[in-house]
Amino acid sequence: MRENNSGKIVEFGPVPWSRPEILECLEEFSRLYEERPIRDNRGGMKAPHMFAVWFMVRQLSPDIIVESGVWKGQSTWLLEKACPKAELFSIDLNLKTREYVSNRAIYSDKDFSEQDWSDLPDQSLVFFDDHQNAYRRLQQCSWFGFRHIIFEDNYPITKGDCYSLKKVFSEVGFDPFGSNKEPKDDGYLFKGRRRSDGSIEVTPLTLTPQYESKIIAPNVCDAKMLRKRLEVYHEFPPVFKCDKTRWEDDWSDALYPTPKPLIERSTLATHDIFLEEAIYYTWICYVRLKSIG
Ligand SMILES: C[S@@+](CC[C@H](N)C(=O)[O-])C[C@H]1O[C@@H](n2cnc3c(N)ncnc32)[C@H](O)[C@@H]1O
Repeated sequence: MRENNSGKIVEFGPVPWSRPEILECLEEFSRLYEERPIRDNRGGMKAPHMFAVWFMVRQLSPDIIVESGVWKGQSTWLLEKACPKAELFSIDLNLKTREYVSNRAIYSDKDFSEQDWSDLPDQSLVFFDDHQNAYRRLQQCSWFGFRHIIFEDNYPITKGDCYSLKKVFSEVGFDPFGSNKEPKDDGYLFKGRRRSDGSIEVTPLTLTPQYESKIIAPNVCDAKMLRKRLEVYHEFPPVFKCDKTRWEDDWSDALYPTPKPLIERSTLATHDIFLEEAIYYTWICYVRLKSIG
């Protein structure tokens, strides 16, 4: 098997905060987290990533925040708390699952790639929590002019349902179907016409299939492009690290390279929630694209 970078922590560029600054904010965040509107946020972020997003967004203080992946709305609430003055665009293809609905956010059920971002100010940030191909998302951000980006689902090499930046740097590619065959989707576009009997007649509209690859073969070029186009890549540290992962195997550095946790041991009651929810950490990361202007 070809060697890859899977056991290494990747980090580069000037990270705009320090560990002491992060640590200083833990207590304030614990008090805020007590007020969260959704107590059971299964399928959404828990304490370690909620803290990470709140801290990073507050530090970066953007004028516009785009959230892609709303679910019940806990992250919308968090972004409002982190940056009360920012304009907030919240996107989810299914907005029906919301339990917290903000009266400040502008909601949309159209994918990030299909929105009009032609009037974007410099200080804009995207928070992706939508389980999509992160490499493709960066290409879209670059085109639209977003430079500050947070990826929540930064899954390690053997886990997760999307091509994460952690996978890109590990050069392992991504196969969503595992050993199973990809469901048939040959990429041709068709035009439909309803016949008088109600049935639909389908005729081909294009001669060549539309190109969008779902399986990504192991490769080094995606990682090389990230190093070329990113100014910063930073995995936000977990508050605590457990012995086992959420997948119940050993949280080893070989399979799950992880930045040093913020706290090794604690007796403070305000830290209990971080310990209880520690396994929900998935290597959340902040990236900054180089300016091409
Ligand atoms: C993990 S949940 C988001 C959790 C939420 N950010 C939180 O922490 O409370 C993922 C959400 O992404 C949404 N989603 C899936 N594909 C999407 C897309 N292309 N654009 C935006 N949202 C999408 C799903 O409908 C789902 O609600």
